[in-house]
Amino acid sequence: MTSASTNYQTVDIALGARSYPILIGPGLLRDSALLATHIAARDLLIVTNETIAPLYLQTLMTSLGDRRIETVILPDGESYKTLETFGHIVDVLIDKRLNRDAAIVALGGGVVGDMAGFAAASYQRGIDYIQVPTTLLAQVDSSVGGKTAVNHPRAKNMIGAFHQPRAVIADTRTLSTLPDREYRAGIAEVVKYGFIHDAGFLTWIEANTAALNARDDQAVMHAVRRSCEIKAEIVGVDEREHGLRAILNLGHTFGHAIETATGYGTWLHGEAVATGMVMAADLSVRLGWISPAERDRTVLILQRFGLPIRGPAIGGQRARELMGMDKKVLGGKLRLVLLRQLGRAEVVSDYSTAALEDTLHDHFG
Ligand code: NAD
Ligand code: GLY
Repeated sequence: MTSASTNYQTVDIALGARSYPILIGPGLLRDSALLATHIAARDLLIVTNETIAPLYLQTLMTSLGDRRIETVILPDGESYKTLETFGHIVDVLIDKRLNRDAAIVALGGGVVGDMAGFAAASYQRGIDYIQVPTTLLAQVDSSVGGKTAVNHPRAKNMIGAFHQPRAVIADTRTLSTLPDREYRAGIAEVVKYGFIHDAGFLTWIEANTAALNARDDQAVMHAVRRSCEIKAEIVGVDEREHGLRAILNLGHTFGHAIETATGYGTWLHGEAVATGMVMAADLSVRLGWISPAERDRTVLILQRFGLPIRGPAIGGQRARELMGMDKKVLGGKLRLVLLRQLGRAEVVSDYSTAALEDTLHDHFG
């Protein structure tokens, strides 16, 4: 369900007792009344990083008003999304004697959100947290849906938990300071929603490429809102990824191989996903599901946002090994998200292995 007011829009995640709103709009970090409504705890730990803190921490703390606020400022980067950094957050929670009534506020992108969320999921067997995403990727994807995790040196997001936030507060104005490459990486996840679930949204994205590239307020608001609506619909049906939710991973199994092979942080997550979506589209062509023209359309859309469409030259064999580490391996068979058509993805495990190997050979060669 979506409701609109003058300043922000709300998309609801409907999960019974774990339901929560996603609030989307410019300037929400300065809206004390809205923050007071959605962040109830008197004791807070704000988790952020060294890049975001100088930009937004003071504004958020001022708006949160008169309560106890502790902070932890992490080093910046995917390479710090580790058990060690997670342990540091827990150390601070313990040192500051924050108890079960305290809540964590995750101020940042997906790296901060995933780690702060995992700390909230595990500290004293689970405390509340609120996502305040500041990257486009986090606003359209990682802050929504309750997946939290840290990386293992050999596989991404291998240690984590499902733990839904109490609210997501997405201040779209924070995107104005986002580096271009990070913004484009977020666009990859926006485009993903069109590929997997909404051909009409894909057409809208194509018609609004220039506005999105220019970070036009209205275009960005629409893209964030529609992406969150689609994610809300999918998570509302399948919170713990027993089935449908896996389609949100279009391009991710290929992408995780890229991220792991090149070292976390070399390729941005969204860049790896973009390239992975091209590979998924290509394999879908080889299986006769979509036409070469449809695959070319996926490539063109991503290229128009300056996203990479070719994998690093690690070789098909190595890529296949790394894909085997993915969480989507079930009973020894790698499940993949492929395109039945543009706007409809499916999770499949009964594809031709030869077609997969040919795809990997061509894209990672
Ligand atoms: P990120 O968190 O590393 O942020 C990208 C960069 O932008 C960082 O350097 C960050 O400090 C900086 N930054 C953040 N906000 C800024 C702002 N407003 N202005 C200037 N700089 C800013 O990367 P990301 O793309 O947000 O997230 C990627 C992570 O999200 C990956 O670890 C991925 O696995 C995870 N992820 C999780 C889910 C999920 O469902 N939990 C979904 C998708 C991705
Ligand atoms: N980003 C994939 C998911 O939330 O399920």
